Amino acid sequence: MCYNTKYSDINLSQGQVLVVSIRFGPGAERYEVPIIMEMNETKKVVLSGIQPSGTLTLGNYLGALRNWVKVQDEYLCYYMLADLHAITVRQVPADLRQNCFKTAAIYLAAGIDPNKSTLFLQSMVPAHSQLGWVLDCYAMMGELNRMTQFKDKSARHADNINGGLYTYPVLMAADILLYQADLVPVGNDQLQHLELTRDIATRFNHAYSDTFKIPKGLTSETGARIMSLSDPTKKMSKSETGDGTIFMLDSKDVVIRKIRKAVTDSDGEVRYAEGKYGINNLMSIYSAVTGKTFEEIESEFAGKGYGDFKSAVGEAVADELAVLQNEYQHYMSDKAYINQILIEGAEKASYVARKTLSKVYRKVGFYDPAK
Ligand code: TRP
Repeated sequence: MCYNTKYSDINLSQGQVLVVSIRFGPGAERYEVPIIMEMNETKKVVLSGIQPSGTLTLGNYLGALRNWVKVQDEYLCYYMLADLHAITVRQVPADLRQNCFKTAAIYLAAGIDPNKSTLFLQSMVPAHSQLGWVLDCYAMMGELNRMTQFKDKSARHADNINGGLYTYPVLMAADILLYQADLVPVGNDQLQHLELTRDIATRFNHAYSDTFKIPKGLTSETGARIMSLSDPTKKMSKSETGDGTIFMLDSKDVVIRKIRKAVTDSDGEVRYAEGKYGINNLMSIYSAVTGKTFEEIESEFAGKGYGDFKSAVGEAVADELAVLQNEYQHYMSDKAYINQILIEGAEKASYVARKTLSKVYRKVGFYDPAK
C-alpha cells in the first residue's frame, strides 16, 4: 500500500523534530508506526524546566516563563516539567499529578507554542533517569557537598534528607546534557548547578571523547528576580504559605490585597536604592509588567506615597495575570489536547535524548547485542 502525502504545508524549522504516526491494519487504530523527521540542527538549543510542585508563582512567570516564550523563535527550545526533581521533597501523589497537568496548561497559557518548542514531562522520558545514573558515577561527593541548595533544603526538610535531594543537581545535568543544550535560562539560585553540569560534562568529555556540549547560562535583562512580598530578601517561592507569594492563578482581589500588604520601609519615597528591598522588589515587578524603566517609575510616583504605588502595581499585575488566566481556563477545559501535547512532546524529546544516551552507553562500555 502506498500513500502520497504532501508535506509542503508542514513548516519545520531548523532542528525541529516532527513525529508522524501512520495507522494501518484491520481496525485502523491498531498499529501505529511513528516516523520521525529531523531538520539539520543549526539553531542553538535551549533547555529549561520548573518543578511542578505547586502552582507557579509570579516569580516563575516574570523570571522564567515569559522569557522562555520570547526566545522560542530564535532558539530550538525544550521546556520541561521537572517532576522527577519534585519528588526529592515529599509530594501528595494526587496533587503532584494534578499539578503536572495544570503546569502544562500554564506553560501553554503563557505562550509556550508546541509548534515551536518541545514541551514535555521529565518522567515521560526515561533517558533522564538513565543518564542521571551514569552521571552520578562521574560526580564527586566533594562537589555535591558544596551545593548550597542541598544545604538549604536539608535544613528545611531535616526529616527527609534523601539521596535524591543530594544527587538532584546531577539529574539536572542529565536534563541539560541529553539535549546538547547550548543555553540554559536559569535564575541565580541554579547557577551553581549549571557550573556543576559544565564540570561533569568536561570530565566525561576528557575521559572519553567529545560527547556533551558544554552549556552556558542564558540570562536575560528582563528576567526579573522576584522576591517574597513578606520577606523581600528571599526569593518568591511556591512553597511559602503566607501572603508573600503571588500565584499565577490568584484572583485580582487576592493580588491587590497581597501587594497592599507587601513589606516596604519608612523612607516613603518610591526610588530604587540599596537596602530598600521591598520597594526595589515592587519596582522590579512593576517594571517587568509595564516595561517602564526604574527612572520612569520614580518620576511617575514622585511626590506620591507607597499606597498609590502599590495600587498601581496591584492593578498592573492583576491585569497581566487575567489575560493568562483566561487562556489557562481555555486549555484546562481541553484535557485531550494537553494530553496530546504531552505525548508528542515526550516522543520528540525521547528521540533526541536517546541519541545522546546511546552514545554515552557505548562510551562507558555497556554491551549492545545489536552492534
Ligand atoms: N532545578 C531547577 C529549579 O528548581 C529545575 C530544573 C530541573 C532545571 N532541571 C533543569 C532548570 C534543567 C534548568 C535546566 O529551578
